[in-house]
Amino acid sequence: MPLARVIAVVSQKGGAGKTTVTMQLGGGFHALGASVVLVDLDPQESAYRWAEAAPLLDSELQLDVRKMSGLELIKHIGDLQREAEYVILDTPPSIHHPSTLAALAVAHLAVIPAVPSPTDLWSTLAVERLILTRMEHSYRLHGCILPNRVQNTALATDVLELLHEFTLPILDAMLCQRNAYPQSAVIGASVFQLASGADAAQKEVAQLIAAVLKQLGEN
Ligand SMILES: Nc1ncnc2c1ncn2[C@@H]1O[C@H](COP(=O)(O)OP(=O)(O)O)[C@@H](O)[C@H]1O
Ligand SMILES: [Mg+2]
Repeated sequence: MPLARVIAVVSQKGGAGKTTVTMQLGGGFHALGASVVLVDLDPQESAYRWAEAAPLLDSELQLDVRKMSGLELIKHIGDLQREAEYVILDTPPSIHHPSTLAALAVAHLAVIPAVPSPTDLWSTLAVERLILTRMEHSYRLHGCILPNRVQNTALATDVLELLHEFTLPILDAMLCQRNAYPQSAVIGASVFQLASGADAAQKEVAQLIAAVLKQLGEN
């Protein structure tokens, strides 16, 4: 089996959707039949706690989430890459945190969730600058932006505004503001495990997976 591809989910602010995107990526790859390990590098352990809500689910549906420091990640990344096909890293809400820098040191792809509002845009531009700098020092790192919490009513203008501001590619996918995302946290899984009413969110996550695979050059 080839070594796993490593995806880091990064943003400067809390609330942009890192943990949400991490868990949906995990559920989305799992739904495709791929093996996934999630690594929670955030000292607040939100991905880890999210997954802890899952004992209600069949064990095969539970996402495998490990807590680690940046140093532990660097030490164990080779083993993790032999264990699964995709390793997804949830990071602390600071681009200067050692764990975020460790994640970028081992990742093939950095996904930056960006809420299309003026204040969030500023912090996303700062993340982008860091990723662009890191890309100059890494032969394998690529970065991309994922519009998140997009409000249906303002969809077109919000996303157009985003497109103009960034140098990194905008993913050919977006997550709208939907109840299905916080609901899936309650059951410790992704929108694919929600019983009903999650069709639109499932479609978005499937599109997200396709767009991520394209960025990884695997489509
Ligand atoms: N697309 C979305 N639709 C609705 N709520 C969302 C969406 N993305 C994130 N949220 C909510 O926003 C809050 C912050 O998201 P979270 O993933 O925890 O961000 P971060 O990990 O970057 O701090 C959570 O309550 C989460 O449920
Ligand atoms: Mg988080």
